[in-house]
Amino acid sequence: MKGFTVWFTGLPSSGKSTLARMLEKVLNDMDFHVEVLDGDEVRLRLSKGLGFSKEDRDENIRRISYVAKIVTRCGAVAITCAISPYREIRDEARREIGRFVEVYVKCTLEECISRDVKGMYKKALSGEIKNFTGISDPYEEPLNPEIIVETDKESQEESLSKIVSGLIELGYITKEKLRNVSL
Ligand SMILES: Nc1ncnc2c1ncn2[C@@H]1O[C@H](COP(=O)(O)OP(=O)(O)OP(=O)(O)O)[C@@H](O)[C@H]1O
Ligand SMILES: [Mg+2]
Repeated sequence: MKGFTVWFTGLPSSGKSTLARMLEKVLNDMDFHVEVLDGDEVRLRLSKGLGFSKEDRDENIRRISYVAKIVTRCGAVAITCAISPYREIRDEARREIGRFVEVYVKCTLEECISRDVKGMYKKALSGEIKNFTGISDPYEEPLNPEIIVETDKESQEESLSKIVSGLIELGYITKEKLRNVSL
């Protein structure tokens, strides 16, 4: 089987990790080998010591992109879930990886703040932490992503189903294989 990368991008609390894990299960059930590169885990290991300046954020994404490229080349699926706020570096990852599907996890800032899964928006809004995407650091929306999910309007299942349909349309997975999988 040919590998590919699914690159989730979006604000904190938009739903990247949630959808990545759901997609991982679907693809596993289709007999793909899947590696999830989650920003939180990557920052504890591969990118340990990097901060949140533009330079460090770009370096973090370059490292994730490098691993995703290797996983893809091995015929497996890399799913990345990092905020990846800068357009230019996402486009660099796209060029480097080739078989690349950018999924924009779109959600209003207000909804993300009300979810505040990790309690970080609260800290950013009170000034306790600096350089927080959406509050005190920029987020550049993708201009031409392959797939957009709107998690402030859709259930998790609806968003997952949009992603799976998108992957079929783009030719990365087939309907036949999906038939064995319960969504
Ligand atoms: N359609 C949807 N898709 C994904 N998540 C959703 C959706 N609707 C509601 N949610 C909720 O939104 C939250 C998203 O949290 P999650 O940790 O996945 O965000 P994240 O983008 O990975 O954030 P971070 O960048 O901080 O890691 C979860 O609590 C999830 O249940
Ligand atoms: Mg996450």
